[in-house]
Amino acid sequence: MQVRAIRGATTVARNTEDEILEGTRELIREVVAENGICKDDIISILFSVTSDLDAAFPAKAARAEGMDDIALMCTNEVPVAGSLRKCIRLMMHINTGKTNGEIKHIYLNGAKILRPDLVQQRGIQDAVPYDEKCSTTDFDKPGDAPAGEKIRIAIDGPAGAGKSTTARKVARQLGIPYLDTGAMYRAAALKATNEKISYYDPEALERMLSATDISVSFDEKGEQRLFLDGKDAGDSIRTPQITKAASDIASIPAVRRIMVEMQRKIASRGSIVMDGRDIGTHVMPDADLKIFLTASEEERANRRYLELAAKKQMADKEVIKKDIGIRDRQDTERAAAPLRKAEDAIVIDSTNMTPEEVVQAIISNLDLHKDRRKCL
Ligand code: DC
Repeated sequence: MQVRAIRGATTVARNTEDEILEGTRELIREVVAENGICKDDIISILFSVTSDLDAAFPAKAARAEGMDDIALMCTNEVPVAGSLRKCIRLMMHINTGKTNGEIKHIYLNGAKILRPDLVQQRGIQDAVPYDEKCSTTDFDKPGDAPAGEKIRIAIDGPAGAGKSTTARKVARQLGIPYLDTGAMYRAAALKATNEKISYYDPEALERMLSATDISVSFDEKGEQRLFLDGKDAGDSIRTPQITKAASDIASIPAVRRIMVEMQRKIASRGSIVMDGRDIGTHVMPDADLKIFLTASEEERANRRYLELAAKKQMADKEVIKKDIGIRDRQDTERAAAPLRKAEDAIVIDSTNMTPEEVVQAIISNLDLHKDRRKCL
């Protein structure tokens, strides 16, 4: 008997039993039809599903296809940064003694894409990044890919200049993840606050962080969710108290060292848009494109005011302006990696620009950068 393995993969839109079952059945049917095999040729089928799916329901799917006496197994895959979302894979072992010709591997619903860790190994550069997940405690897990061809954009600037809105939109337009590094400092500040640790005590903060898990994951829209010790931090990191505390602890070198290490780790995994204060100067000094986004203090305070008003939170514009001024000074004047424009950063003053105009300005600069690179 000569055994061969046929591979197949498909994706589903939602993690529901009906969709997964239907997707799995369609995949089995296609593998069988395209390879001209019959039920008796099949020895076993191994299924695996990405970690965002609950199962491939192999027994149900195979039974529904009249294959109830075939050896079946289903496993969940380990999460791999940048891997395809909601994907079902199978490996069907067949007895080739009963079949002729070439084996055809079957990829349905956009599933013909390798996991990024395999892509990088093989030198193929076109993986679509999806489900990025990185944590302060998983630096050395498998799946950390070496740097390859990728787009890395650094956006720095003062509070309220529109960095996160812009970065999110640029990332979405490019189909790559966006990392809000400020949220990481905010998470550390939240934990310090909850544990009543002084924002100015480097040893205590370092001890606290070494026992803290800050992790980020990106949903299908590339939106970041930040987890503090496994719990979604949500808006609890956006209060005025935590905003001020984040700026305080961000001036502590030990805190920055831990955060920067994690940010670089995420950057090493693939394409990314990252915003913060020290991204172009310190975290990704070799970013493909560096933007320094500014706006007048008046405009930044006004935007913050409108943002709070939209959330039905009462605020005084003068107080907002004062707070922004204090944060600007603190972030700019601190000794450790202060906010400053990288020498090779492009300055965009967004005072009189719409968010869309800012995004387009960045995309145009990226295109220019790519054209220049092609000419080298
Ligand atoms: O961008 P933000 O307002 O969410 O950031 C919160 C604070 O964290 C900000 O006052 C400065 C600090 N920060 C920093 O020092 N370096 C970064 N890369 C990001 C934020």
